[in-house]
Amino acid sequence: MIYKCLVIATFEKIRGFTEKLCKPLMTEDYVIQSMPDVSPPKWHLAHTTWFFENFILSKWIQNYQPVCPDYFFLFNSYYKTVGEHFTRSQRGLLSRPSVEEIYQYRKIINERICQLLAQCSERAKKELVPLMTLGIHHEQQHQELLLTDILHIFWINPLKPSYLKNSQKEHLEISISPHSFLSLSGGLLEMGHPGDSFSFDNELPRHRVFLDEFQIGNRLVTQGEYLEFMEAGGYQKPELWLSDGWICVEKYQWRAPLYWEKIGTHWWQMTLFGMQRLQLSCPVSHISYYEAEAFAKWKAKRLPTEAEWETCASTYPIQGNFVEQELFCPQPLSHRFSQNGSIHQLYGDLWEWTASPYQPYPGFKPLPGSIGEYNGKFMCNQMILRGGSFGTSETHIRPTYRNFFPPDTRWQFTGFRLAGDR
Ligand SMILES: [Fe+2]
Repeated sequence: MIYKCLVIATFEKIRGFTEKLCKPLMTEDYVIQSMPDVSPPKWHLAHTTWFFENFILSKWIQNYQPVCPDYFFLFNSYYKTVGEHFTRSQRGLLSRPSVEEIYQYRKIINERICQLLAQCSERAKKELVPLMTLGIHHEQQHQELLLTDILHIFWINPLKPSYLKNSQKEHLEISISPHSFLSLSGGLLEMGHPGDSFSFDNELPRHRVFLDEFQIGNRLVTQGEYLEFMEAGGYQKPELWLSDGWICVEKYQWRAPLYWEKIGTHWWQMTLFGMQRLQLSCPVSHISYYEAEAFAKWKAKRLPTEAEWETCASTYPIQGNFVEQELFCPQPLSHRFSQNGSIHQLYGDLWEWTASPYQPYPGFKPLPGSIGEYNGKFMCNQMILRGGSFGTSETHIRPTYRNFFPPDTRWQFTGFRLAGDR
């Protein structure tokens, strides 16, 4: 009973936080889709609600009456075994249902879910709670996507609106910890989610990996360091780039991270606080895997593999700059807080590109049924990112958490750290 109450309380809290993140938006902001990868904020609000209605309410309530049968088509993202879905790249064309109707949809589904949980038997609870937990984590994933998509939506607007007012002062440039590398011994190690607590299916099964001795950078690469790469002609030297990366440099005319813009003699960047001067001591963000990889090659280093990252990060507590702190930007690693011989910024701040392709672990089994489409079918042509960002919830991240995006992705909160061989 206590556990059931806890699930209801967590559900209400997480659903409420999604709506809190939308508070700074005006009605018009909810509807824009600035590129095919971005979803309009109102679509996120509705899709996360559909998840609970489709996978829980419609299965667990006899003769279930949907709020609106068309929502099953409009707000299904990619679950082919569930039925047809609306075209992803055209989500921004939907002026109806209105924002108000979608908030009403959320309210009704919230009430139905709470009612179902309050009334269900202990036997039903055993099956319902894992699905509820998955739905809550799904909602948290979309909270971060809301932020990344809002930033892109505001960036394409020449007015460069601010999601948040500038109450958050720009950081003063501070002295940051020098870049150093720690040697780790490797050996026959284990990775993947341990124990019975929640994880996504793609974090399983736990399995053995052999790692040679390796080096890992003590912090994320900064904007100042990335600017040096640019000024050294990094975007003009094909020898630094993977072939597919160089194709992107030429095709998209990449000359800087997404959102960076040189105005006069200074570099600026679009942030959730609007356009700001670069913060040289802050981690560099909004770069693709290709750019991270080219930078590492320029430094005669490489990116860590996900096994290296995880076996290292598993020995550190999950502390960092997460969305609950509401800072909404990566933070510099102050000299004051850094310790010699320690690795910093593993969690929060920015997702870290790894050198590992997104593939199933040995013995991987997707979840049974339609929910098995959640992760497994994307295990091709994407790279793994680790550690979460300032847009990630601290209750959502784990050392074993595998995020994944195509290597040319730049609109997510992505940074990187360096690694090397012994
Ligand atoms: Fe989703």
